[in-house]
Amino acid sequence: DAFAEIDSEQYEGRANFRDVPANLTGAHLYRVQLKNNEHKRVFLDLIKTEQIDVWMQSRGKKAKAVFMVLAANVEKVNMRFYEADITLKRLSDNVQKLVDEENPSENVTKLSNSKTGYALTWKAYHKASVIHDFLDNYATNYKDLCTVEKIGNTVEGRPIKIIKISSGGDKKRPAFFIDGGIHAREWISPATVTYIIRELVENRTAYSFADEVDFYIVPLMNVDGYEHSRTRDRLWRKNRAPGALCKGVDLNRNFGYKWGGKGSSSSVCRGNHRGPSAFSEPESQAIRDFILKFDIGTFKAYLTVHSFGQYIMYPWGYDYMTPPDGTELQRVGDLAAAAVKKLTNTSYKVGSSAKLLYAAAGGSDDWAKAVAEIPYAYTLELRDKGDYGFILPAKFIKPTGLETMAMVQVVAEEMLKAE
Ligand code: ARG
Ligand code: ZN
Repeated sequence: DAFAEIDSEQYEGRANFRDVPANLTGAHLYRVQLKNNEHKRVFLDLIKTEQIDVWMQSRGKKAKAVFMVLAANVEKVNMRFYEADITLKRLSDNVQKLVDEENPSENVTKLSNSKTGYALTWKAYHKASVIHDFLDNYATNYKDLCTVEKIGNTVEGRPIKIIKISSGGDKKRPAFFIDGGIHAREWISPATVTYIIRELVENRTAYSFADEVDFYIVPLMNVDGYEHSRTRDRLWRKNRAPGALCKGVDLNRNFGYKWGGKGSSSSVCRGNHRGPSAFSEPESQAIRDFILKFDIGTFKAYLTVHSFGQYIMYPWGYDYMTPPDGTELQRVGDLAAAAVKKLTNTSYKVGSSAKLLYAAAGGSDDWAKAVAEIPYAYTLELRDKGDYGFILPAKFIKPTGLETMAMVQVVAEEMLKAE
């Protein structure tokens, strides 16, 4: 039926039809529940006519969406929902205000008054070079524990860096790979992944699994896109691949397993543009080449960190199916969600990503599971559920870091038990 379309197609990535940043002054943010097919039809029509910009969507009986409406369309869009008898919850009446208030303390963070020796903090969102300097600082000051390597360069020539955290020696340990910042605008992701790095280094003794696992962590994969979202266009998602009409490839549609399938666009202006071929982008290539340098079986867990919506998701993402060990992935995901609930009272939903959100092929999680054969492969969608969406105020970095560390702990412990 025609309404299955909203259930099967992905709209989250559609933010950038042109390379012109949207004027967010007076833009509204809404949450909606689409309770029936009529609701879905109205919603779909507004997407297709480019009157709303979907930030998050989920499937199922209680299909939900968070979307933005630019000031010029607010009246029309409200009228359309009103006519269709659909109740909207308005989350913001000025998205620009959210942006202006998101990151207040950044300006006061100076290396000269930092006690840590690095400028990075978890009170603000920082630029890429500050994140990279933090990694380099660890490589210098924790020589026995940390190694930092450049695993590639971005389209615009910035380094992509990885930190290895391992107590060393010849002991062969299961390896755990984590990446953040695939999507430029999801700032809580690199902030949270650096929080995890800090825990594993500076608070290491609190984690009994830390000495049993080798961690390989890329806190910021899409360095160019991140910088672009900081300086030019807060809602930019893709990398910065060149293009005459529109720039950028969605790196999470560019990985080489079932590449080109559902939920990935061949149109260069779409937010979910898959690129000209699988692994066409240096950023996704860098991850692929790094992981495949190791023997298959080295990596036991893979975590890719996104926002938002509060989901713990496992493959498959390319279609509405689960792998043979789906029940084990669900079990460990449930344990992680329970640990978070206990710790910060935040609710995360657990399930396969296509079934929970939408089918989207070419994701890094599917590739990690199917090609790199990493058994415990998860995509996390961190806070929140849309109150702020991508523009999560910096004061939420610490609690989000805390609860994400609890998820890392559960996955690490369960993967060790399975050895
Ligand atoms: N929000 C993420 C995205 O759109 C979800 C990815 C889940 N994984 C997948 N292979 N579809 O990229
Ligand atoms: Zn994402």
